[in-house]
Amino acid sequence: MKKSIPGVVCVFLLFAGCSGGDSGSGAERGGGSGSGGGSSFVGSVETENGVTVVEMAGNDRMKFNLTEFAVQSGATVRLTFENVGRMPKSSMGHNVVILEQEVDALGFVTDAAKAKENDFIPPDRTGDVLAHTKLLGPGESDTIEFTAPPPGEYEFVCSFPGHTQAGMRGVMTVEPDDGS
Ligand code: CO
Repeated sequence: MKKSIPGVVCVFLLFAGCSGGDSGSGAERGGGSGSGGGSSFVGSVETENGVTVVEMAGNDRMKFNLTEFAVQSGATVRLTFENVGRMPKSSMGHNVVILEQEVDALGFVTDAAKAKENDFIPPDRTGDVLAHTKLLGPGESDTIEFTAPPPGEYEFVCSFPGHTQAGMRGVMTVEPDDGS
């Protein structure tokens, strides 16, 4: 019976591999040494007391450790993002910007690159942003909370110049509320 469970979990842990347990033996995959932080470069999505808790990180190699995750529409989502790199914020800052549905990610970050004074969140496009963290330097983290929007796919990016183009992007899938 338990054999079916890891398949579900792995949807959220594509970058983490699928060790399917707490052995810890596969936890280093995906991060690479020298990315800083000292902990495994693995993101997670869990439900705790009815809150969907998302933990993700970005590193000096311009990677998120979570590029796909799913939440249920209407759920309270608490997302913690950590910059586990060591390079200075001025050259390797990271954030997580979740875009509203059907916002063109590359167009958005093109505008964001001109908004350095606002930590690369373009002031005239706040309506295109569902939620975002602060821009973080090495070792910093930020936690944001939002209500999961209507079902659909929502892209998220790091809006630091060049990072989305380098692959620092992903998709949050919002599933219909199953009523449970
Ligand atoms: Co970045």
